[in-house]
Amino acid sequence: MQIAPDASIVVLTGAGISAESGLRTFRDAGGLWEGHRVEEVATPEAFARNPDLVQRFYDARRRQLRTVEPNAAHLALARLEQDWPGEVLLVTQNVDDLHERAGSRKVLSMHGELRKARCEACRTVMAWAEDLEPRPPCPACGARSLRPHIVWFGEEPLGLPTIFDAVSRCGLFVAIGTSGVVYPAAGLVGATPRSARTIEVNLERSSMANAFREHRVGPATEVVPGLVRELLEA
Ligand code: APR
Repeated sequence: MQIAPDASIVVLTGAGISAESGLRTFRDAGGLWEGHRVEEVATPEAFARNPDLVQRFYDARRRQLRTVEPNAAHLALARLEQDWPGEVLLVTQNVDDLHERAGSRKVLSMHGELRKARCEACRTVMAWAEDLEPRPPCPACGARSLRPHIVWFGEEPLGLPTIFDAVSRCGLFVAIGTSGVVYPAAGLVGATPRSARTIEVNLERSSMANAFREHRVGPATEVVPGLVRELLEA
């Protein structure tokens, strides 16, 4: 299927795109994320119950970012944004910074970012590279109320109006490495125009596979560079 040469593109990425960089996905290993059930570490209730455990968990995830690099799939998407004549919006569910480090500029991190902290007292969101478990004071207001800038289960994802606006106008929607079980991300393909080209890239057909017209089955580092080449050379 052809799309207009300047069609707008929305790419949705999930944990699968970072798997080959060495970051674990959420739903492998029996549903544990780095040894924890999501309810233990990724809900506001968990944070209220055991803030130190939750802070330590995200501190470890933040430190882990220093040990990994963007892979060929992240790099290919940065090239797509740079070379495609139309608009490209990259919506990621990932909280790592690999898209940015690969060179993507228009990245909407709908589930937050490990390399940011947010103050629960004054609401300031700030770049953050260090651990939060020692409860450092907020640089803006001094309160010891910093938390990871992460959207936990039960909280509203970031940027939804912008995301739905872009999705409702796109000519191509591509989902890469996401299992399609967490909403609203899993519902985005259903909000594309009827005429849109829709492609799923995954190691296997995901639980939302039927909502896509095309499927590319294989590892992101192999499939995504090929797909980007195809789009740019069409
Ligand atoms: N290439 C392509 N796809 C892959 C690869 C790979 N190398 N490795 C794994 N996958 C696919 C898996 O088949 C799976 O469908 O990536 C998907 C990863 O799914 P999840 O672990 O469920 O991750 P994701 O869909 O991003 O999770 C969504 O759930 O816990 C929350 O907030 C968290 O953002 C996360 C959300």
